[in-house]
Amino acid sequence: MTTSNITPEVVQAVRDASDIVDIAGSMTRLTRKGKRYEGLCPFHKEKTPSFSVDPDQGLFYCFGCGAGGDTIKLFMEHSGDDFPAAIEALAQRYGIPLAASKGSWTAPKQTLTTALEAAAEFFQQQLANSSFANQYLDRRKISSQLRKTYGLGYAPESWNLLRQALSSRIPLEDLIAAGLVGRSQRTGDPYDRFRHRLMFPIHNPAGRLVGFGGRTLGDDKAKYINTSETERFHKGSLLYGFHQAKRSLRDQGKAVLVEGYFDVLGTAASGVDWAVAGMGTALTEDQARLLARYSDEVILAYDGDAAGEKACRRALPILLGAGLAVRRARFPAGHDPDSWRLEAGDDAVQELIEDAEDAVWLEVQRQIPASSERTPVTQARAAGAIAELLGGVRDTVARGAYQRRAAEYLGVPEGALTGQRGAKNYFQSVEQETGGTPSEVRSEEEKALLMLLQEGAEVPHPSELPASEVFFDPDCRNIYVAFCDLYSGGNRTAPTGAEVVAKLSSEGNAIDRAARLLLEDFDSERGTLSDTLGKLLHRWNKQHQAELMRQIRQAQQEGDQDLLIELLDEKKALSRTLHPGMTGKVW
Ligand code: UTP
Ligand code: MN
Repeated sequence: MTTSNITPEVVQAVRDASDIVDIAGSMTRLTRKGKRYEGLCPFHKEKTPSFSVDPDQGLFYCFGCGAGGDTIKLFMEHSGDDFPAAIEALAQRYGIPLAASKGSWTAPKQTLTTALEAAAEFFQQQLANSSFANQYLDRRKISSQLRKTYGLGYAPESWNLLRQALSSRIPLEDLIAAGLVGRSQRTGDPYDRFRHRLMFPIHNPAGRLVGFGGRTLGDDKAKYINTSETERFHKGSLLYGFHQAKRSLRDQGKAVLVEGYFDVLGTAASGVDWAVAGMGTALTEDQARLLARYSDEVILAYDGDAAGEKACRRALPILLGAGLAVRRARFPAGHDPDSWRLEAGDDAVQELIEDAEDAVWLEVQRQIPASSERTPVTQARAAGAIAELLGGVRDTVARGAYQRRAAEYLGVPEGALTGQRGAKNYFQSVEQETGGTPSEVRSEEEKALLMLLQEGAEVPHPSELPASEVFFDPDCRNIYVAFCDLYSGGNRTAPTGAEVVAKLSSEGNAIDRAARLLLEDFDSERGTLSDTLGKLLHRWNKQHQAELMRQIRQAQQEGDQDLLIELLDEKKALSRTLHPGMTGKVW
């Protein structure tokens, strides 16, 4: 089943039936202004209305944040649904019979939801029956109320119980598509992916169940695993606990951002029910934007260790970039909000959150050299870093205040700090300073390499591997080249990681990186090799397409007809590889 099952007729029927005033009115209070309606924008925080709805044209626009579009876009933006899911939900809302439109059509998204919900119910039943899992939660002082609020469950220690329990209702392929069941690479046999784990249902911002995180209750090396990325489950745009915290976020105008799922529970247990967590990966701009829609301020409550500190520094420019004020709660070394609650009590957690300090100023202070180390060179270096960080503070008044204060502390004229480079660059410099990409934000390129180099990996024939250009990171590309050289150099089987490292060592390139990749634990969160290589290829094609567009424009300007035709042909061919399913699309 593909999304092309959403026929043009259904889309048209949804467009005809849906009323933009009705839909916008369910998101914000509208008042009539002549032919239009006005209200507070549902997409950003504001005190005076700049959100405008035009029922005649069926359009909305916010003069404050620039969000705008038609009814379907409005619905998508608000619910977090993609196009097919939005159509499905709107069709339901307006009673448009989906199945009647063409044969026996069932919405593909609905089957995913059905599978996930059935699994959630199964996990909850299993929790009710498992004294082991309940004792675990008791020990961690998670009340039964919280277990309910967060819909916790338990995946039993079995390779097939989930499948068996749901087999009469949910087709196997749906369980696989939902990321709940995997297939053995060797035999192709299906198996339950979550075994002997405490299950955390994960919802999108609109409250729709999209996946699970599972914490091992045994000694599995992967402490947590998540549903593999599906059509619905994109870690970079989800925040754990968001949908439960949404109302509080808006009421409070602030959010606590923690690192782990358990920290969300622990913080909520200590009385702060406006905490959300990332998905075990570095904070993304999408997540920051989502937070900024509901609050003005974020309090970082990351682990009190070096990794937590680093994660704070990395998150800071991203949050500032979304226009948020940022404070930082500092937990004692070796503690996260949850463990601190068990150690020191609910009040202690609340106090640390209340006492959170201004994160920008903390970071400025970190950059200022100690007086014993103060030389023109260290001052200049610090001034550069601080200017970049402060350049990312969106509020001009606040920025000016920081600049004045920082200049005074640093002993440089204020002008030295008013450069306009901004948070993006600062972010990159933090990355460099911390020695490349940390494991928790392992890139697609590194994942691809890991899969290639893994023992017993099923690597396609050398002729089917993509060209090395698909790797943008020079280290990764070198590792890949070494791999391909060995593989195609008469070797029937793929080279091992050690062989690749050996080859690199003889050439002296990228070897540290390769070694680190091979020595670090690789959790079970991965797609397939062909998916990952496919993604890299797609990305390269996109870049190539942009370059072609540039050349096409130039050829047009210079009136070079022959070149233009050649380039356009190339672009057409490329476009086909980029959008193989395009012909079936209806929007
Ligand atoms: P932590 O290791 O800090 O776990 O990982 P935690 O939340 O404190 O869990 P407990 O208290 O030991 O039970 C923080 C987050 O990183 C992701 C998860 O999202 C986790 O909540 N993570 C961690 C993974 O995705 N995989 C892992 O193997 C470990
Ligand atoms: Mn913890």
